[in-house]
Amino acid sequence: MQEEIIERIILKTVDIPSLPPIAVKVMNLIQDDYASLRQLEEIISRDQGFATRLLRIANSPYYGRDRKIEDIPQAILLIGFETLKSLVIATSLRDLHRKFGAFEQRLWEHSLGVALCSSLLAMATHLSTPDEALVCGLIHDIGKTVINNSIPELYIQVYEKIYEEKRDIVNIEDEVLGFNHALIGRLIAKKWKLPEKLEVVIAYHHTFPYPDYEDPSFFDIYNVVRVADQICLSLAIGLKKPLEVKIDFETIGLTEESLNNLIKVFKEKFEKQRDFLLS
Ligand SMILES: [Fe+2]
Ligand SMILES: [Fe+2]
Repeated sequence: MQEEIIERIILKTVDIPSLPPIAVKVMNLIQDDYASLRQLEEIISRDQGFATRLLRIANSPYYGRDRKIEDIPQAILLIGFETLKSLVIATSLRDLHRKFGAFEQRLWEHSLGVALCSSLLAMATHLSTPDEALVCGLIHDIGKTVINNSIPELYIQVYEKIYEEKRDIVNIEDEVLGFNHALIGRLIAKKWKLPEKLEVVIAYHHTFPYPDYEDPSFFDIYNVVRVADQICLSLAIGLKKPLEVKIDFETIGLTEESLNNLIKVFKEKFEKQRDFLLS
């Protein structure tokens, strides 16, 4: 009951957008085992802006194809359903920003960084599939986008305070706003009816230890994204300055040496793709 009241108060400050229709359609289609490539192609081709952006992303160094992908059917065939889902989600999430200035660009850069880092951690640890980790990384800070859309001036102040005091983001958000991006993220996940796994990652990526009452089968992906987030915050990916964050690499079974190797690979890959993905 109390939760409901708090939720109502928060929703007066922050209004939660709808998930873009194309994302809803594509996600539903991909969940349907009998969906045909043709149906997917039709939905995407009908939205010209989206189709163009999708082709650009499909041709990015991230996917490392030798051949240029010229049209949507080719993109779908070469990229595959699973990866396409990540692309649709990524494109839709980027579009959720009401404006796209320097601050929003940093938020977006952080999400891309955590997505790439999560998928590398998933490959190294086998705790999740790289595609699933990518999607979870892309969406983990969705609460920040939505808060920033509603109260941009105040949210920039929150960030200034984070840089000044070098304290935990969630603590400072709670102090200044009375709520934090993990909480808002959870409300969004509920409103959009996202899979529970995504909801758990969004709601708990700043919480440790993992809450007892949550489904333990989500523990691994929660940990992968949490550690990827810590790595990106400590490398200042999407931030003006690095934060002093402890990286809980042992919780996903990495040694210090394997962590350092992974960070090296991650930095190189991200450096290569960064400008393209952000443009
Ligand atoms: Fe976060
Ligand atoms: Fe984050």
